Amino acid sequence: MLGVPRTIEWVDGKVRLINQLSLPHKLEYIETRDYRRIAEAIKRMEIRGAPAIGVAAAYGLALAALEVKSNDIGEALKNIRRAAEVLSSTRPTAVNLFWAIRRVLKVAEKAGSVEELQKSVVEEALRIAREDEENNKKIGDFGEKLLEDGDTVITVCNAGSLATSYYGTATAPIYRALEKGKLVNVIVMETRPYLQGARLTAFELKSAGIPVKIITDNSIGIVAWKEKVDIAFVGADRFTKDGYLVNKIGTYPLALVCKEHSIPFYPAVPTSTIDLQHEINEVEIERRPGEEVVSIKGVRIAPEGVDALYYAFDITPPKYITGIITEKGIVYPPFRKNIKKILS
Ligand code: MRU
Repeated sequence: MLGVPRTIEWVDGKVRLINQLSLPHKLEYIETRDYRRIAEAIKRMEIRGAPAIGVAAAYGLALAALEVKSNDIGEALKNIRRAAEVLSSTRPTAVNLFWAIRRVLKVAEKAGSVEELQKSVVEEALRIAREDEENNKKIGDFGEKLLEDGDTVITVCNAGSLATSYYGTATAPIYRALEKGKLVNVIVMETRPYLQGARLTAFELKSAGIPVKIITDNSIGIVAWKEKVDIAFVGADRFTKDGYLVNKIGTYPLALVCKEHSIPFYPAVPTSTIDLQHEINEVEIERRPGEEVVSIKGVRIAPEGVDALYYAFDITPPKYITGIITEKGIVYPPFRKNIKKILS
């Protein structure tokens, strides 16, 4: 029922991913056997979205394992660790990247031969991708119960199928609701400067037959005053052990507006996005080149010589979060205590 193809796939020892920079106008694929090209794709945001970059990194390590031609297990481990470093240095905020790399490395380190390492690393990467899709569907099952036929959902960025291996996180309840015969409307913030909302979320929802309207990021206040907005579903790049949500820039203002207007605010958080190791002040918030803000599609819009301050993500404190939708159920505050419970 989804209108978009899979974001990333493992095909005959190669990785094939949609180049999201060309969407919605062109559906273009990147195919590679080289983990360095995967790292480039993550850096350039040809693939983006926390779970999708986790899957991409896992497949990148699988490519690194397969490129080893000797029978020396030490050599193979060295290569995969080098690839892990390269992939880890692409983007700092989404915890799924580090989580997936840790998972694959753990499997590699148990292997007794190169052959075993290659087989088990590829299997683990495929498992990560498969589990991601399954978990998103479970998030959809829990989240769908929060929706009534005719509701309007507000969201930001793209936490949809394109940001995951399939189905999406914040979009999953919307897709599940549609499968059950409930039609919901969606308002999506355009999400400057990459326009993931306008380009990607609008594209994927429209392709699935879901009514969607785009608003500029700075309209959320007036939209909450004037429009019927029933609930907010957003994604998560990291949910820290102290209950803070790190997600696309614009999420925090959305949460503040939701609080003021009594609109329930639910991040969709697969457990792969929960970071039990760090508190919020230890998390690096990615800052990207100001050039991405002062120019749109290569056309300069600000005066020459003026730079921009560009944080790619923001932080929403727990007091603005109604609950988080995980694949194990909806978790309500106090998060520090309750996330530990569902993970145990
Ligand atoms: O910079 P991006 O496009 O990678 O940011 C994506 C987001 O912020 C998403 O909301 C988040 O990764 C969750 S995706 C299911």
